[in-house]
Amino acid sequence: MALINESYLKLQAGYLFPEIGRRVSEFIAANPDKKVIKMGIGDVTQPLVPSVVKAFHEGVDEMAKGETFKGYGPEQGYAFLREAIAKNSYQDNGVNVSADEIFISDGSKCDTGNIQEIFGNENKIAICDPVYPVYADTTVMSGKTGSCQTNGYYEGIIYMPCTSENGFIPELPTETPDLIFLCYPNNPTGTVASKEELKKWVDYATENNAIILYDAAYEAFITEDGVPHSIYEIEGAKKVAIEFRSFSKTAGFTGTRCAFTVVPNELLAFGKDGKEYPVKPLWNRRQSTKFNGVSYPVQKAAAAIYTEEGKKEVADVIAYYLENAGIMKASLAEAGYEVFGGVNAPYIWVKTKNGMTSWDFFDKVLNEANVVGTPGSGFGPSGEGYFRFSAFADRDSVLEAMERIKNLN
Ligand code: MLT
Repeated sequence: MALINESYLKLQAGYLFPEIGRRVSEFIAANPDKKVIKMGIGDVTQPLVPSVVKAFHEGVDEMAKGETFKGYGPEQGYAFLREAIAKNSYQDNGVNVSADEIFISDGSKCDTGNIQEIFGNENKIAICDPVYPVYADTTVMSGKTGSCQTNGYYEGIIYMPCTSENGFIPELPTETPDLIFLCYPNNPTGTVASKEELKKWVDYATENNAIILYDAAYEAFITEDGVPHSIYEIEGAKKVAIEFRSFSKTAGFTGTRCAFTVVPNELLAFGKDGKEYPVKPLWNRRQSTKFNGVSYPVQKAAAAIYTEEGKKEVADVIAYYLENAGIMKASLAEAGYEVFGGVNAPYIWVKTKNGMTSWDFFDKVLNEANVVGTPGSGFGPSGEGYFRFSAFADRDSVLEAMERIKNLN
């Protein structure tokens, strides 16, 4: 008799973004004449930059010739990409990360979910509320939780509310976690953590033998000086943190798929025998067994963002999205909304008016302005009464969407 993984039965509703997609498709089917503007899922709209496209083509051409054809690549990623990342994303910024600590993958979504496999199910996981839904859902799937309670929290997860009252930075939890998910610049609130705030977390993890799972997928959007780009800028973090980064939003790779995870050599976790074990060999074992690497042309394309031209081209696209965010922030504030984020991140986090629920606001914005956003409550109970707009649409759509929202009743 085949038995299912019962943990899947604990999951509430479908995954957030497909659920939004379903509602939007229904609306479009019923209103085929309406021009719907999508600012829901954080999916890029601008094409891959020329340097990336050129390298991608070259990679494909190499695969087309016997002399340069490649079969399986290293499961950890090609050395040329790991070295380019170590140098450009870390060492040139004074952060000590070496190529052998970097694992190339097909996405941070996958990595933040898969990483849980190398940690025991006895671990207590702390997550922010609201939060990128993957952390909570994959914690449930992995069997580390009980059921979902009436307040929307899964039994066994330590939730850390992030609201405007605490500046969207969680307080240290009262119950001690073993694994702590942090995401900065933050999805969904678009806010950032200062060095002092991150130091607080690194010190806390050190004191409690915990590990921080640090999602820095939106690092490239940081514009303000002094905001940390990597958790490893904090002294001692390499002993307590894994960092996830992605080419998706940085370089338009949402459909191309490439990301990386840093597992430091000095990161240790405990066995039931009380002994300390290095974490990196476990992740290496997991990846070598279950993953065959990202395709060669994609890795070649990703490496092109570190060329002089590539850096400039990618920076221009990010500036374009951030300009969108600036326009949106100003327009929404003008329309009387309380607005957060959008300065160091491609997300604008808006408080709905008059206590309207997130889903009611979703329906209003969709039905009356034909604009799609993401209901804050979809990211967790503390997101209730908030709404997220992504800044990845093209400029004309952004301007039109803002005009329509300003005219909402
Ligand atoms: C989001 O909209 O939160 C992201 O696009 C989802 C993702 O990166 O998987």
